[in-house]
Amino acid sequence: MELSDALLGWYDTHARALPWRVPPDESRVGMLPDPYHIWLSEVMLQQTTVTAVVKYFHAFTTRWPTVHDLAAAKDAEVMGQWAGLGYYARARNLLKCARMVVADHGGVFPETRDGLLSLPGIGPYTAAAIAAIAYGHSETVVDGNIERVMARLYDVHTPLPVAKPELTALAAILTPQDRAGDYAQAVMDLGATICTPKSPACGLCPWSSACKARVNGTAADLPKRAPK
Ligand code: ADE
Repeated sequence: MELSDALLGWYDTHARALPWRVPPDESRVGMLPDPYHIWLSEVMLQQTTVTAVVKYFHAFTTRWPTVHDLAAAKDAEVMGQWAGLGYYARARNLLKCARMVVADHGGVFPETRDGLLSLPGIGPYTAAAIAAIAYGHSETVVDGNIERVMARLYDVHTPLPVAKPELTALAAILTPQDRAGDYAQAVMDLGATICTPKSPACGLCPWSSACKARVNGTAADLPKRAPK
């Protein structure tokens, strides 16, 4: 079996239930989530933990159910609702971006990585995440968790940040054409719940038999980091 299929099979039964995801229900297989929800959650998750983001995500989507509602909000209302999440430039860009999506794109988020990159507050990571998760495009999403998973799967001992291009290339080779959004979120969940920085739960990992670091006993020491 392909590595991506093994991981997607695991995700089908172990995905974290997060409010921006489509619930794993048979009748909803193949459904894509709301791009507004994916954009909002990805911007919030840029520098904030999943646990903290869930509360704010509910508050924002209750108060502003669509990008049109958010675009019409007053600056001070949005800044006030953001209070506590930190990195306030994100909130200012959030509002700028919502207004651009409404004014220039008819309220529909662009589908492509390049289209998304042209919007305020959307960098390469967030553009790839939205293109994959909201639109199902086969884009490779790489964050710190995914670098750790790749370093272990292929037992890469080159220290970060030098190893980044190598780990990104390995992640790109594994990215499937189908279900790219589920796949991206599956690697995130694997990194958050199984392939954790300390004491990874290799016995529960769908990739354990393929994992070179597991075979070599190096998983807990990877990724290496250049000394500061
Ligand atoms: N971290 C960043 N984006 C995420 C997502 N979509 N699911 C879980 N963790 C994430």
